[in-house]
Amino acid sequence: MRMYEIIEKKRDGIPLSFEELQFFINGYCCGDIPDYQASALLMAIFLNGLNEKETSDLTILMANSGDKVDLSSIPGIKVDKHSTGGVGDKTTLVVGPIVAACGVPVAKMSGRGLGHTGGTIDKLESIPGFKTSLSIEEFLSNVKEIGISIAGQTGNLAPADKKIYALRDVTATVNNISLIASSIMSKKLASGADSIVLDVKTGSGAFMKTVEDSLHLARIMVDIGERLGKKTYAVITDMDVPLGNSVGNSLEVIEAIDTLKGKGPYDLENLCLILSARMLEKAGKGNYEECMRMAKNAIDDGSALKKFRDLIEKQSGNPLVIEDYTLFGKARFVFEYRAKNDGFIEAIKTDSLGIASMILGAGRETKESQIDYTAGITLQKKTCDRVSKDEVIAILYTDNQESINKAIEVLNCAVKITASAPVLRPLILASVDSGSINV
Ligand code: URA
Repeated sequence: MRMYEIIEKKRDGIPLSFEELQFFINGYCCGDIPDYQASALLMAIFLNGLNEKETSDLTILMANSGDKVDLSSIPGIKVDKHSTGGVGDKTTLVVGPIVAACGVPVAKMSGRGLGHTGGTIDKLESIPGFKTSLSIEEFLSNVKEIGISIAGQTGNLAPADKKIYALRDVTATVNNISLIASSIMSKKLASGADSIVLDVKTGSGAFMKTVEDSLHLARIMVDIGERLGKKTYAVITDMDVPLGNSVGNSLEVIEAIDTLKGKGPYDLENLCLILSARMLEKAGKGNYEECMRMAKNAIDDGSALKKFRDLIEKQSGNPLVIEDYTLFGKARFVFEYRAKNDGFIEAIKTDSLGIASMILGAGRETKESQIDYTAGITLQKKTCDRVSKDEVIAILYTDNQESINKAIEVLNCAVKITASAPVLRPLILASVDSGSINV
C-alpha cells in the first residue's frame, strides 16, 4: 500500500477501506508519513467528505492509537459529557458537581481553550493552587473517594487525534463534520465512559454555524457512540448568544459558583440542569423528569456546591474561593464599554466576544501565550435587552492596558443595536437520541 494511492483515491471521491485508513493513521503516528502527505489527504477529505463507515473507522483507529482509560474499577455507570466548544461555556464546572452529588461518578478529562473558545482546564487553573495534571492513579482514586475528578487529558490519549488536529489547525481543515465527529468521539471512546451526553453548539460562536450542520454532526456522533455500544445523546444548543454573562477564566468560575449557589444566570442554570438530568437518566437514576428534580435538588440543598468544594480541595486548590471571590485576584485595568445609541441589542457576535476576551488575555493567541486568569468580559446587556445611549453593555478586565483599545475595536463591530426588539431563538434547539431527532 502507498500513501500516494490513498490520497489519489480520496481526491477522486472514492471511499477508503479500514485498511487504508489504518495505514494512514499508523504511518502518520510513527512518523513514516510526512506532514505534506497527511495534509493532502486531510484536504481531500475536507473537500470530498467521509461516509459514515469511513468516519466510524477513523474514530476507532484514532481511539485505539494510544492509551485508554479503564474506569471499570469505579462502580456504577460512568457518563461523560462533552461540549463542541463555545464562548462562556462553563457548564462542566456546574454539571460535574451536580451529577456527582446525585451519586453518579464523574471521571472527566477536559481540554484547554481553542481559538476563540474557552476550555475547562484553563478555567479550573484560575483557582489558586488547583492541579489539573494528575496521574491516572490519582484521577481514579479521587473519583472513588469523592465521586468526581476533572483533569487534563493524559499525554497519550488518542495521540493520532492530537497530531492530526494540530495539522488541521494550520491547513484550514478543521471545519469538516466527519473530521470533527471522529476527533471528538475518538477522545470520548478512549476516556472509557459507558455513556456520553454531547452538547453540540450552533451559531456564530460555534464551529457549526447552522442548526442543520449541527444536527448532522450530532447524528454522526450519536451513531458512532451507539454503534460502539455507548448510550449517546446529543442536545443542540444556541451559541449565537454567549452562555451566562461572563467570558474569561476566573470570571467564569465565579459565575459557575454563583450557579451552584442557586444565584446564576437563567440560561446557564437551565442548560446545566438539562445536561445533568440527561446524564443522570443515562446513568439509570430514573426518567428525565425524576432526574431533573434530583438535579434541581442538588443545587437547592447545597450538595452540588459542597461537591465542588471537595473537588477543589482534593486537587490542591484553595476552597475558600467559594466564599471569597477576591482570592482569584483582580485585573489591574477595568473598562466600561457603553452603548453608542438608544435601542435594543440585536446581537453581540459571539465569536467576536470570544476574540475580544482572548485579546484582553483570557485566551492564547499562540500556543506559547500565557493566560491572564483575571482577564475577560462581563456582559451587562445581552441580545434583546433595551439599552440607552451611554449605558454600560460590557465590562472589560485585563492586566494589559494596551489590549483594551484592540478589544474595543472588535466589540464595535460585534455589537449591533437596533430600533425594534428582535426575537430571541430558544437555547435548546433540538436533540438527537439513538434513532430519533427531535426538533
Ligand atoms: N473539538 C475537538 O476535539 N475536535 C474538533 O475537531 C473540533 C472541536
